[in-house]
Amino acid sequence: MKVTTLVENTRGQEDLCQEHGLSLYIETTKHKILFDTGAGDCMMKNAKKLQVPLEEVDTVIVSHGHYDHGGGLEDFLKINKHAKIYIHPEAFGQFYSERKDEGTVYIGLNQKLKVEKQIIWMADDLWIDETLFLFSKVTKREYFPIGNRTLFEKTDEGLLPDLFRHEINLIIHESDKKVLVAGCAHKGIVNIINKAKDLTKTYPTHVLGGFHLSKSTSGIREENQVVKAIGDYLNETGAMYYTGHCTGEKAFLYLKDIMNHRIEALTTGLTFNIK
Ligand SMILES: [Fe+2]
Ligand SMILES: [Fe+2]
Repeated sequence: MKVTTLVENTRGQEDLCQEHGLSLYIETTKHKILFDTGAGDCMMKNAKKLQVPLEEVDTVIVSHGHYDHGGGLEDFLKINKHAKIYIHPEAFGQFYSERKDEGTVYIGLNQKLKVEKQIIWMADDLWIDETLFLFSKVTKREYFPIGNRTLFEKTDEGLLPDLFRHEINLIIHESDKKVLVAGCAHKGIVNIINKAKDLTKTYPTHVLGGFHLSKSTSGIREENQVVKAIGDYLNETGAMYYTGHCTGEKAFLYLKDIMNHRIEALTTGLTFNIK
């Protein structure tokens, strides 16, 4: 399968659009998948430059209800009227972030999109077909990201900590590969990998996505000893990791030190094959 990084926080190529967000285009023998849509118009712009056929995408996953993963969905729907879009029913909640300089800001999805007919609501585990598996309900809290402490959901009782019930993850099975794709890993990358193993009996061979080890808008970052423990765990799984977005540069470099060739950085425009 071939992975193209349409949006990531860092610009790999000078001529590409860059924003805080994540969007991966993944082509398998059976599917053209869009995993997350970035924050704004970068996904559409970069797809054009990188010759990614968004109009041919058949499966979209919006990993959770934050603007930096679902912000490009409105534009995508204008050019693709057939793709199935998998979203958790709670992803259209009222999500807020407490930021250092801006105070409390809305970071949820565009509410008007929740009536879109292409959406398929995905609340539990779902085999889309024999190659694509979605899951949520990650309940363990090992190394629960401290960046989550400034993320909230507005409810009738006021702002409460976001519990991230709206987060979904994807596993792609192709030949002997099992590729786990996470958006922000708000539930904690260790817990998500363990849940994937519980559900499918073995560790993934590859893991892609953000690991939520830092939150730049709040100036929060995991302690080095926590990053080290996570890196040691990731090494033990034997998988290959591609990460960026909310992993943060410092945490990535620290992980790189621990994991060497087992981890690579995702940057906007990066394309690679998994075979
Ligand atoms: Fe997020
Ligand atoms: Fe994010």
